[in-house]
Amino acid sequence: MNKLRNRELLHGGDYNPEQWLDRPDILEEDIRLMKKAGVNVVTLGVFSWSILEPKEGVYQFAWLEEIMDNLYQNGIHTILATPSGAKPVWLDEKYPEALRVDEWGRRRHHGVRHNHCITSPAFRKKIGEMDRLLAKRFKDHPGLLLWHISNELGGACYCPLCQKRFQEYLEQTYGTIEHLNKAWWTVFWSHQYQRFDQVEPPFANGEGSIMGLNLAWKRFTTWNMADYLRWEKDILKEITPGIPVTTNFMKLYPGLDYRVLAKELDVISWDSYPRYHNDYESLYDTCIENAFDHAVMRSMKKDRPFLLMESVPGAVNWHDYNKVKRPGMHKLAAIQAAALGSDSVQYFQWRKSRGSFEQYHGAVVDHLGREDTRIFQETAETGRVLAALKDVAGSVVKAKAAVVFDWDNRWAIQDMKGLSQKKKEYEKTCMNFYKLFLELGVETDVISREDSFSTYDVVAAPMLYLLGEDTARKLKEYVAGGGQLLCTYLTGYVDKDTLCYLGGFPGDGLKELFGLYSEEMDTFYPSDKNQVRFLDGSLGEVRDFAEILKLSGAEPVGVYIHDFYAGTAAVTRSQYEKGSAWYVGARLDEGTMKRLLRELCQEAGITIREIPGNGEYHVRENGEARFHFLLNYGEETIKFQDVRGMELLTGEVAEGELLVKPMEAAVVLEKKQLAKGEDR
Ligand code: GLA
Ligand code: ZN
Repeated sequence: MNKLRNRELLHGGDYNPEQWLDRPDILEEDIRLMKKAGVNVVTLGVFSWSILEPKEGVYQFAWLEEIMDNLYQNGIHTILATPSGAKPVWLDEKYPEALRVDEWGRRRHHGVRHNHCITSPAFRKKIGEMDRLLAKRFKDHPGLLLWHISNELGGACYCPLCQKRFQEYLEQTYGTIEHLNKAWWTVFWSHQYQRFDQVEPPFANGEGSIMGLNLAWKRFTTWNMADYLRWEKDILKEITPGIPVTTNFMKLYPGLDYRVLAKELDVISWDSYPRYHNDYESLYDTCIENAFDHAVMRSMKKDRPFLLMESVPGAVNWHDYNKVKRPGMHKLAAIQAAALGSDSVQYFQWRKSRGSFEQYHGAVVDHLGREDTRIFQETAETGRVLAALKDVAGSVVKAKAAVVFDWDNRWAIQDMKGLSQKKKEYEKTCMNFYKLFLELGVETDVISREDSFSTYDVVAAPMLYLLGEDTARKLKEYVAGGGQLLCTYLTGYVDKDTLCYLGGFPGDGLKELFGLYSEEMDTFYPSDKNQVRFLDGSLGEVRDFAEILKLSGAEPVGVYIHDFYAGTAAVTRSQYEKGSAWYVGARLDEGTMKRLLRELCQEAGITIREIPGNGEYHVRENGEARFHFLLNYGEETIKFQDVRGMELLTGEVAEGELLVKPMEAAVVLEKKQLAKGEDR
């Protein structure tokens, strides 16, 4: 880890010199331009298998070594990828079992990428040989900073090998087929299994009606991917134990529970491609969604920075509308990444490929090949900014609040047949809670229901539909110990296999914690409306969902005012030992939720610092200093209050107030006052 810790912030990106091996002039120019752009790291080798091993067993690594040497001599480190993201044609020709089978049961043809079966012994053997040789060849290379396993792991394979592995996994998990039948309620529609080897994955034209099976398949896919990741990692670790390992995640990719994969990694990294400047939301909203994604990544390893592995300095080629980043956006997005805890800003890609699928994907160096382009200049400016922020490297974000956003729960909600398929919006709901905390100036982690809650003063766990074995107990312990917990409609409906709790929701002992149960759930048409009146007379708007609650100990904080459930509780609070458990039975408008969260935070003794509209605020810290990041996505200058210290981008000193212009950011260094003998 040491090489990655407390260095400067990393700046660079995916570099594919193998596309230009016949153009030494371009390779030379690349180095010159990288230095101009303040690049100190590149990612090499992603998708390079056919060059590294042009024929089975024939390896050519000399070109790579030469490039790495040259980069290193010019002050540029290498993140080295294993090439398992795409396969050479000879491999598919000789080992057709390595080709993935899709959800219709069709074996794929050779081509594209991510088209391999991760279970296939032949595939694992071939990538194992490759990784071992790569690690041996480069283990002592001074430029090697980090291993990057494969690329954007994803997808699922439905081949006979994967099916068999799934059945073995089920047997390990459930022990007996009777147990599985019970957990999945397979007697419904006569779906009982007699043996594990009868259980098929949920094929698109097969069994899709068993919620327990669908969820088990997702969990298995994650489990199998984690096993694959470990397979590559163990080979690298055996030969290069000192080199940390990552793989790049994709936003909130729904196919894999990243928190399980994260356990295999030394560093979290991810690829961020927001739809900036779109026509359906404000720039602020786009950027706060990106902040949420950063926070999800950061919260997987809270004790260390993460890496922004890919972003684009211009436009991507795969959005519906590939709009270029407006002037200043790139720098602002880079500072945002640092603000949320990233120690890098990297690009896909350094130089545009001349042909094929991504020939129009943005890059630092365009087909034009010039350095006086707007994008190159803005990249170079970003390089200067990151250099000015070098002391930020290694510092971390410490959050007082947490939003629980859980993959298992997400899958279960998505798959449940009920409510309104269109309006469930679990991701958006979690994101909104996160955004409201930020607007109150409360730094917030985004965690899973399996993480520890004990370090947080406030925990919001919206729509926690599925409770695992321990979740209810943990929530109770958290509140008993003095925590402020907020849950909402759709809490505690099912157990870990999606069987409904009997005797009222929220189940598994949570009725006692919240002092209530939910008798009915009303789903609104878009034009339906209801309101909640709070104790202070204020009103809140209800949309989409309203639970009808029966109280058994909770105090009502707000009641519905319309419809047949007028006068019944919509929002409640229940004192449970040293803490409070709040229940919000309806989906409420943002302003109302913000008022409630403010109250929770105040109850928990958290200082509220209202952030002006269109502004974003974060703090990173280490033993000696705090770094206050202040960003402005709006069109007016923002006045931030209570800012004291040296602004690192201008060198000016802030004494209380700081003005940040539209599309600009400030980073203020505050030195910590350490008491004598205090632990750093
Ligand atoms: C992903 C991949 C890259 C590239 C970019 C394009 O992040 O990792 O190889 O395809 O998308 O945006
Ligand atoms: Zn397979």
